[in-house]
Amino acid sequence: MRDKGYYVAPVLTPDATRFVGAVTFSALASEPARTSLYGDPTTPIPHTYLGQHAALVVVAPATAHLIARYATGLADDLLTATLLATRAPVLLCPAMHTEMWEQPSVQENLATLRRRGVMVMEPERGALAGGDEGVGRLPEPTRIAALVEAIVEGYRGPFSGRRVLISAGGTREAIDPVRVLSNRSSGRQGYALAEVAARQGASVTLVSTVELPLSLDTVRAIDVVAVESAAEMYDAMMKRSLDSDVVIMAAAVADFTLTASKEKLKKREGVPELRFTPAPDVLAELVAQRQRGQLIVGFAAETTNVMANASAKLREKRVDLLVVNDVAAPGAGFMHETNEVVLLDRDEVAERVSLRSKEAVAVAILARVAAMFEDGPS
Ligand code: CTP
Repeated sequence: MRDKGYYVAPVLTPDATRFVGAVTFSALASEPARTSLYGDPTTPIPHTYLGQHAALVVVAPATAHLIARYATGLADDLLTATLLATRAPVLLCPAMHTEMWEQPSVQENLATLRRRGVMVMEPERGALAGGDEGVGRLPEPTRIAALVEAIVEGYRGPFSGRRVLISAGGTREAIDPVRVLSNRSSGRQGYALAEVAARQGASVTLVSTVELPLSLDTVRAIDVVAVESAAEMYDAMMKRSLDSDVVIMAAAVADFTLTASKEKLKKREGVPELRFTPAPDVLAELVAQRQRGQLIVGFAAETTNVMANASAKLREKRVDLLVVNDVAAPGAGFMHETNEVVLLDRDEVAERVSLRSKEAVAVAILARVAAMFEDGPS
């Protein structure tokens, strides 16, 4: 990290010094290694100095013991005191034997820390101390360094400085306090779009009905807003679209909603008659209040007469790009890891994106959006 121009302040726990001497770290880092809360005449309160100046705190390797102390809020040495004294993001790189890694206590402590926003880089499978083999190996230092760089620097790319608003998942319309009306959307294509846009420099807002894990390198560039119904999605999207450069409606929004019964519908009262009313058409409203220079991408979920329906939808919806999804095709659309789409631009030029991962489909969609920035708005 120092070779890349970073300022590195090393902290060693007393146990770490049994493996590597502090002098080694002092020679390689930007300032002398610290091993104790006490006895440094130049920095009498080292944990606050370290915590307040850090852009990122990396603990590598993070032992089961360190993870437990951090999860509990102990501050009985310089490292744990620094972890409590910082507001900087924290990245833990656990390394230990497989048996220890799989202990519920270790996993529960990590879950607690993740919930508090701590980033955890998963250990790798490979050779462990003492000739054993399994999960628990510290990732290669170059991988850790690349992740540190992505977290601290963010990404640069065609979406640098652009705000991208994306919707994901299927809405849920309440029938009563227990039952909902929904659809099979998994949210994966919307999440993939968010991650790829973040890796290309965007600052992303993801309005989603589902919560999926985000990669450590993108989590700080993506603001997830949880919604449930079409009405909630409408409110969240309309408000946030005002300062977005790109809006992508990947969510499967209900077309019909209903007034939810306050009490659970009882079986003995017979088969209920549900009265539907139209749900807000979020995409139509976004297009109606389109901001200057804003690009709007819609999705079309079709099962029959796919391209004819999609062309009609493109004209009707007046979007810049329509991502046409034949959701009945094998391996594509809802509930799949992969997708296959046709990109239909505002001039009705079609580009087929063959079956591939949802991430690769996101790359293709965003490449078209980025090219439109260069062409200028419609
Ligand atoms: N959409 C929306 N609000 C709705 C329904 C759909 O914003 N209430 C958006 C979807 O997110 C998608 C696009 O409109 O980007 C097209 O959705 P789709 O379900 O394919 O089309 P519909 O307009 O609902 O028409 P139909 O169901 O008749 O095919």
